[in-house]
Amino acid sequence: MAITIKSEREIGLMRESCKILAKVHNELGQFVRPGISTKDIDEFGEKLIRGYGCVPNFLNYNGYPASICVSVNEEVVHGIPHKERILKEGDIVSLDAGLIYKGYHSDAARTYGVGKISKELQQLIDETKNSFFEGIKKAKAGNHLYEISGAIDDYISQFGYGIVRDLVGHGIGTSLHEEPQIPNFKQLRRGPRLQAGMTLAIEPMINLGRGDVEWLDDDWTVVSEDGLPSAHYENTILVTDGEPEILTLD
Ligand code: MF3
Ligand code: CO
Repeated sequence: MAITIKSEREIGLMRESCKILAKVHNELGQFVRPGISTKDIDEFGEKLIRGYGCVPNFLNYNGYPASICVSVNEEVVHGIPHKERILKEGDIVSLDAGLIYKGYHSDAARTYGVGKISKELQQLIDETKNSFFEGIKKAKAGNHLYEISGAIDDYISQFGYGIVRDLVGHGIGTSLHEEPQIPNFKQLRRGPRLQAGMTLAIEPMINLGRGDVEWLDDDWTVVSEDGLPSAHYENTILVTDGEPEILTLD
């Protein structure tokens, strides 16, 4: 499968799908507070998605058992919600959510502080988000894909954080994961040329310590090997001849 170029009709549907997801994320962000369980977040998120007449695309994806990935502190991504896992003041929590609207997928992630968090963790969250915006400055028709990867890497390197290398961003459209894979670190090659109409999920995962990760025995939850906290920021974007359109922001 090559990288798909979306037609105007498909771009319209992607915009709709992503706009709904932006609303879901805004509501999820306001829901996060000390004392709730990660399962509460999943249930609330699933209800929101279905309330918009959409389907959660993560649910049952390769057997993933929930609608929202909820990853706390050293959990990097794909945390499985549990009713016994209670958020407490000072934690950070990454919420990764996606949905299907009229056959078109959207995907986005945010990391939030729970109550008051340390300056160090707030900076990790902020710079992870900033690295996304640095990366997408290169997301323009005519540029090459790995210019995005290099820009994220160059930006993050000044902080001494670890970039997660075992998980990557991806194309998105009628499937959650389409070609191409989009690493968040420098590549030796320049990668495919970007074209207007490509829709991409760019998602830096940045660790406070080293970038190495391991999988828990649930075969889903990815954690930092050194046990230090991790942040995640993701949007679905549209490549154009000019500035990229960030579809999952409103
Ligand atoms: N944002 C994640 C990704 O792109 C969502 C997949 S989680 C899964 O890989 F549960 F659906 F696998
Ligand atoms: Co994704």
